[in-house]
Amino acid sequence: MLRAKYINKITEVNKIFLDKIVQKGDIVIDATMGNGYDTIYLGNLVGENGKVYAFDVQEEAIKSTKKKVERDNMTDRVELILDGHQNLDKYVKEEVSCVVFNLGYLPRAKHVVITKPDTTLEAIKKSLKLLKPNGIISIAAYIGHEGGLEEKNYICEYLDNLNQNEFNVLHMQFTNQINNPPQLILIEKKGDIINS
Ligand SMILES: C[S@@+](CC[C@H](N)C(=O)[O-])C[C@H]1O[C@@H](n2cnc3c(N)ncnc32)[C@H](O)[C@@H]1O
Repeated sequence: MLRAKYINKITEVNKIFLDKIVQKGDIVIDATMGNGYDTIYLGNLVGENGKVYAFDVQEEAIKSTKKKVERDNMTDRVELILDGHQNLDKYVKEEVSCVVFNLGYLPRAKHVVITKPDTTLEAIKKSLKLLKPNGIISIAAYIGHEGGLEEKNYICEYLDNLNQNEFNVLHMQFTNQINNPPQLILIEKKGDIINS
C-alpha cells in the first residue's frame, strides 16, 4: 500500500505547524489530555523552562498521562488538571502561546466520555482571551462518531465569524478521503510583528 509522507494524518499535519510555532520556554495548554501523547509532545517543544497545563475530566487520562510525564522527567514542567477545559481560566492565569484541542473520545476507554459542543466552545472562547499575540489554537475535530459533526459545525459557526482584524482562522480537511477523516482548525491571534 502506498503511503503519504507529509499529508498523512491530520494530527501529523498539525505538528508541521506546532513544531514551528511553539518555542522553548513557552506556556501552553493541552485542553484534551487523553492518553497524554500531545501533553508529552508539547512538553518536549516547550523544554525544561516551559510549562504545559493539561486538562481532562477522566481519572483514567490523568493516570495514563502521569506515567508518561514521570517516565520522561517532565513533572516540573507539566501540570495535570482533573477538570473540564471550560474551566481553564480558573487554573491558567498567564498568557499562553498555544492551546491544543483533540476532540472526541479517549480511545480504548471503558466509559465513553466525549467532548461536547457547548463546553468545547466555552473553552475555545476562554482560550482566545488567554492567547498572547501571535499565539495559536489548534483543534483536531473528529466528525465520524455520533455528535462529532454537530460539534464541529457548532464551533465553526462561531469561528467562521471571528473578526478578521483580530484573528485568522484556517480550516483544513482532506477532500478526497472516505470515512469522514478528522479536520484541523488553526486560529492565530493577530499581533504586531516586529521585524528583526
Ligand atoms: C481524543 S481524546 C484526546 C487524546 C489526547 N490528546 C492524546 O494525546 O491521547 C479526547 C479527550 O477529551 C476528554 N474530554 C472530554 N470532555 C472534556 C472536557 N470538558 N474537558 C477536558 N477534557 C475533556 C476525554 O476524556 C478524552 O480523554
